Amino acid sequence: MKLVIGCDHAAFDAKTEIIQLLKSLGHDIIDDGTHSLESVDYPDYAASVSQKVQSGDAERGILICGTGLGMSMAANRYKGIRAALCFTEELAELSRLHNDANVLCLGARTQSVESMKSILSLWLTTEWEGDRHARRLNKIELNSRGQDAE
Ligand code: RB5
Repeated sequence: MKLVIGCDHAAFDAKTEIIQLLKSLGHDIIDDGTHSLESVDYPDYAASVSQKVQSGDAERGILICGTGLGMSMAANRYKGIRAALCFTEELAELSRLHNDANVLCLGARTQSVESMKSILSLWLTTEWEGDRHARRLNKIELNSRGQDAE
């Protein structure tokens, strides 16, 4: 699968390990940074990863910050992005089965790398169930139009 991955400084080491895993599984990876431990702003990485998923340059995205919270908040501002912060395998599986999550968010300060790897592996291999969930996903898109505050 063509995947794009991004992180902030809190998750630089974790990203390096996760990229190794993804490559060993045969995935094609775009590494959108960050590329060092120097402090950066997570919304910048959420933007570049989300935009590559929106454009189809990547099929799915992975975003890692300290908690995964900031990345998920930022990514979900982009139309068509369904970013899911998953800290258990059950959440990862359900985010695919029911929500067709196209961006996975992880927290490098709240999850071990081993846990992130097992969550990611399950997330990548679980297919969306479609059916009744399609109606609900359509409503997410429809309800988000014209909702800007006056
Ligand atoms: C950076 O210190 C931290 O705020 C960030 O990695 C993330 O946890 C934000 O949600």
